[in-house]
Amino acid sequence: MRSRIGIGLIGFGTIGTGVVKLLSQHQGLLRERVGVPLELVKIADIDLERPRGVKVKPGSLTREATEVIHHPGVDVVIELIGGIEPAKGFILEALRAGKPVVTANKALLAQEGREILDVLRETNQELGFEASVGGGIPIVKAMREGLVANSYKYIYGIINGTSNYVLTMMETEGLSFQEALTDAQAKGYAEADPALDISGVDAAHKAAILATMAFGRYFSLSEVYVEGLEGMDLRDIRYAKELGYRVKLLALIKGGPQVEIRVHPTLIPSDHSLAKVDGVFNAIYIEGDAVGPTMFYGQGAGEMPTASAVVADIVDIARDLLKGVRRRVPPFSYENLERDVQVKPMDEVVTRYYMRFTAQDRPGVLSKISGILAKRGISIESVIQKGRRERGTVPVVMMTHEAKERDVRLALSEIDNLEVIGGKTVLLRVEDGRRRC
Ligand code: HSE
Repeated sequence: MRSRIGIGLIGFGTIGTGVVKLLSQHQGLLRERVGVPLELVKIADIDLERPRGVKVKPGSLTREATEVIHHPGVDVVIELIGGIEPAKGFILEALRAGKPVVTANKALLAQEGREILDVLRETNQELGFEASVGGGIPIVKAMREGLVANSYKYIYGIINGTSNYVLTMMETEGLSFQEALTDAQAKGYAEADPALDISGVDAAHKAAILATMAFGRYFSLSEVYVEGLEGMDLRDIRYAKELGYRVKLLALIKGGPQVEIRVHPTLIPSDHSLAKVDGVFNAIYIEGDAVGPTMFYGQGAGEMPTASAVVADIVDIARDLLKGVRRRVPPFSYENLERDVQVKPMDEVVTRYYMRFTAQDRPGVLSKISGILAKRGISIESVIQKGRRERGTVPVVMMTHEAKERDVRLALSEIDNLEVIGGKTVLLRVEDGRRRC
């Protein structure tokens, strides 16, 4: 019987510091819950000078990740450096050295996950990645255990705290996009490269992981349709609000003969539970065929919430190690990730749309626009002309009934070429969000 579980940490940044704090603050509590102490044995980082406000055991710090991986007292390796390399190399080395791994690295899982999965199979090792999606929200555990009896119909996620914070601050404080982003960065929510948050790619990484767990085959980032917040105009947030909607950067994953996996700014009804998720908070709405609608809500980023998820994975692995079992629960919920599931091409997606045309304010313009839409079978639900003339043009906002993406794109390319149209049409997708929780 082991008398302790030794932990090795690679990456002593924001989340790593949170993990060190949590393991120390809750040393007694975790010991009672696990049965033996969780002992931080070795920590690697390239920067050992920066003050972090936490005490570590003398001699436990190193600049060499391999010292952590191969330390005989380390039973579990935690990778918190992020990015592809050298993180991938360290994870594979640890797995091959016979050590289970915990990571928060969504980019790596969504981009290079196949290789990680191959090595996991080859080594029959464990991988914890709770912290990779939704920060402190235990969504990974919920999907692979609590909801395992369900076939998933819909998963809607607000899974990027930075972009949700930016949208919230734009809407509620009237901040510019840049002001809101700078504030999010100052608070430590944004990725080192905030472009990943704003472009939707961070949410897409997480969507690929959720889809893999939902549908039982590996989905990579390249299969996720992504649009970010670049160019998001405060006017569209305001018009959407007047129409009874809020704009959220939503990850949408839908089951069916072909699955949909997409991330884009989306209008959702203001009275939907997801619309009330503000600031850095994340929420994942899941509808299973047996359970019906469920929603998981919490802090999707930040030092301590993310550390909470990392330590939860450490505890799961520690319990398996103590009981002498491995992979009691497969990391992605399926014993084999080999189901034959195809992704619906974006052109085939059917949804409702918000369109803002920059149109000349003169007779016949609306009929030209609606004529082109009608020719493509796109039916208009409502139309409003907003505000005053801006350099001879007016914003015309339309909501459509369900239409096919390909038809909408073809119609808009024709409309944007009309001489009465004074700028590129803004196109946002609308989602009813299914039943309200
Ligand atoms: N940058 C991420 C976010 C952090 O804003 O949600 C958690 O992945």
